[in-house]
Amino acid sequence: MSDTLTITDNRTGRTYELPIENGAIRARDLKQIRVDDEDFGLVSYDPAFMNTASCTSRITYIDGDRGILWYRGYPIEQVAENSSHLEVAYLLLNGELPTRDQLAAWVNEITVHTFVHENVKKFIDGFHYDAHPMSIVLSTVGALSTFYPAARNIADPATTHLQIVRLIAKMPTLAAFAYRHSVGMPYVYPDNNLSYAGNFLNMLFRISEVRYSPNPILERALDALFILHADHEQNCSTNAIRAVGSSRVDPLSAMSAAIAALYGPLHGGANEEVLRMLEGIGRKENVPEFIKKVKAGEAKLMGFGHRVYKSYDPRARFIKGIADQVFEVTGRNPLLDIALELERIALQEDYFVSRKLYPNVDFYSGLIYQAMGFPKTMFPVLFAIPRTVGWLSQWKEMVGDPEQKIARPRQLYLGAAKRDYVPIAERGVRELVNQS
Ligand code: CMC
Repeated sequence: MSDTLTITDNRTGRTYELPIENGAIRARDLKQIRVDDEDFGLVSYDPAFMNTASCTSRITYIDGDRGILWYRGYPIEQVAENSSHLEVAYLLLNGELPTRDQLAAWVNEITVHTFVHENVKKFIDGFHYDAHPMSIVLSTVGALSTFYPAARNIADPATTHLQIVRLIAKMPTLAAFAYRHSVGMPYVYPDNNLSYAGNFLNMLFRISEVRYSPNPILERALDALFILHADHEQNCSTNAIRAVGSSRVDPLSAMSAAIAALYGPLHGGANEEVLRMLEGIGRKENVPEFIKKVKAGEAKLMGFGHRVYKSYDPRARFIKGIADQVFEVTGRNPLLDIALELERIALQEDYFVSRKLYPNVDFYSGLIYQAMGFPKTMFPVLFAIPRTVGWLSQWKEMVGDPEQKIARPRQLYLGAAKRDYVPIAERGVRELVNQS
């Protein structure tokens, strides 16, 4: 048995042997398959990357059929149970768990970078009172590159390390400022004596206390949610930071592109949409009617389905456990009953079973965030804070990968053949057949 693929081109009768490496052929090897010398050569057509690997990676592994997720080889359940978000950040970025000293140094490094330039407050002030906090965060992260022009020197490891530290440290501050702006409250400066999650709660919710003390159960729950959201291999926003970063722009600018990708309702915006859906359904008794609409193609069951998972998302399972702990403190979110009923009915229905649609990470996370006092518009921001770690780990891997070049896909041109320009006076009224 050889690790090759034999292809016969029935247009020419010629046979080609392509090497198979790591379960893949190289799309460029298809180029040699040509009808004649004029032919560009065969390409693979894969809109939405349904079956195309865009990189090699050693960071995160997912087996979607078996509901498995590993960070650097460690199962997500073990990491979420035992680790802290900053320890996971170290793991994802560096490949190994830190020693006690390495962790202490890393946590200190992040902590001393939590403050932002005072001018950042000024331009956050300029946003409209009802600006979506995710829009504020994505523009503010892009604007950070104006404060750190040296960030464009991505060939220098010390410079890139500093940008990574800055982004991980400042994201909670920017997120909290965006929230405080939206509710008309004064900004709260970081309290560097608190943990990463604890300080974030402080910057969001402190009012007149001299010192804010986060509830330890909510602090731990938020940290565990951060761990669960830290990385998810080549999802839409990670693909965005890799593609944009491949132009060798600075990582702060590249990360604002990732935040924009995450903002969409099919990606990180889904948790916000789940809550809107649950509120729209209103009562448990209305669930069968809603499911009927989904089956008729009139609605989407937000928080269900995944491009990769074709079984239960392991993060969703863990999040259900976190929900129980949080509701002990905050009281039970009444929308939980609707969510549980949706899941119960959906998992019995052929529509969902045959399409392998299961709850994903976003199905239950919003219920927890809402119970903790976050408005719905903050949900995608709560996703962006921890995913910063994944984005930057993937960006760093991409920049250091000698096989990576500027991302530039091919297209299959189906437009008009060459034709001569028609002066405007000679043009008849023609219907536009394709306006896209
Ligand atoms: N509700 C109803 N039908 C669905 C759903 C859903 N949530 N998701 C997929 N389907 C159907 C879809 O209509 C299609 O049916 P058919 O074969 O009859 O045309 C089939 O299932 C396959 O779906 P697809 O849209 O081809 O799958 P995809 O891999 O392109 O999309 C997805 C994946 C996550 C965008 C999609 O499942 C979806 O829109 N889900 C709801 C939004 C959501 O929860 N997003 C969060 C994803 S997890 C966290 C993250 O990545 O941010």
